[in-house]
Amino acid sequence: MRIRKMVLPVAGLGTRVLPATKVIPKEMLPLVDKPTLQYIVEAAIDAGIEEIIFVTSRSKRSIEDHFDAFPEMEQALERKGKLKELEQLRRIHEMATYVTVRQVEPRGLGHAILCAKEAVGNEPFAVNLGDNLVDASTPIWPRMMELHEQYGSSVLALFACEPEQISAYGIVDAEAVGGDTVKVKGLVEKPSPQAAPSNLAVDGFYIMTPDIFEILEKTPPSRRGEIEITDALATQARAGRCYGLRFAGIRYDTGTPLGLLTSSIALALQREEIAPDLYAYMRQVLGK
Ligand code: G1P
Repeated sequence: MRIRKMVLPVAGLGTRVLPATKVIPKEMLPLVDKPTLQYIVEAAIDAGIEEIIFVTSRSKRSIEDHFDAFPEMEQALERKGKLKELEQLRRIHEMATYVTVRQVEPRGLGHAILCAKEAVGNEPFAVNLGDNLVDASTPIWPRMMELHEQYGSSVLALFACEPEQISAYGIVDAEAVGGDTVKVKGLVEKPSPQAAPSNLAVDGFYIMTPDIFEILEKTPPSRRGEIEITDALATQARAGRCYGLRFAGIRYDTGTPLGLLTSSIALALQREEIAPDLYAYMRQVLGK
C-alpha cells in the first residue's frame, strides 16, 4: 500500500544543543538558512508523502507556525516584488497537509508514535526522527517504500556503526536477504557493545505497518521507564514482519553542536551562490 503519511515525533527537549534549544525547538535550528525540519519535510514530499503529522509538546508551537501560512509576510513580499522569496514561503504551507497532535507527557518514542494513532488510521506510514538527515542524492525513502511494497512489512533504515556508537542506537539482529536488504530477527535498544547482536544500527527512518499501534498499547515501559519503539518493532521482527535497508549514503547528524555545524557546512557547499565564498573563507582560516 502506498505510504501517504509521515509521523514526525518532535516533542523532545533537545538538551544536547542547549542553550540554543532553550526557547527554539531543536528541529527549528537552521542549516544554512532553513530549519532542519523543513529539509525533512521536503524529502518526504519528494517521495510522495502528502500528510505530515507532528507529535509536539507545549514548547514546540513555533513548528506549527513555521508550516502555516504567514499572510502579512506574504503581502509584504508581494508589495516589495520579492517574488522568489514569496514563492519559497508559500511552498512551505502548500506542499503538504499538516496535522498536529500533542504528547502531553514525555513517555518515550514509542508513546510519541502511539499519540499519532488516530491521525494515521489503518494504513502504513513513515516516521522520521529528525536528528539525522541523509544527503538528497541518497534516495532513501523511495527504496524503503519499494521494500515495504515487496514484503508488506515494517522497514528500517540501517547503517553499520562504530563499536563506540553502539550504545547510542537501536541495534538489530538480522540475516541477509540479498543486495541492500536484510530480514530483521530482533532489535535491542542501546545495548553495550558486548551484548549487541551486530553493529547494524537503526537510523531515524522507519516505515511501519499500522498493527504497530496495537503492539505499542501492550508494550510495557523499558528499564529506563520509556515505551520504546524498538521493543514494539522487535515484536514484529519476531513474527517475521520487519525488514531492513542497509543504506550507504551520506548521513548528517544534526543532534549535536558539531553535527549541526558540519551539516550546515556540507549543505552550504552544495549551494552555488554560497560555496565559492565559503571555500575562500575556509582556505583563509586554515592558512592555505
Ligand atoms: C532513537 C531510537 C533508536 C535509534 C535512534 C536513531 O534513539 O530509540 O533506536 O537508533 O533514535 O537516531 P534516541 O536518539 O532518541 O535516543
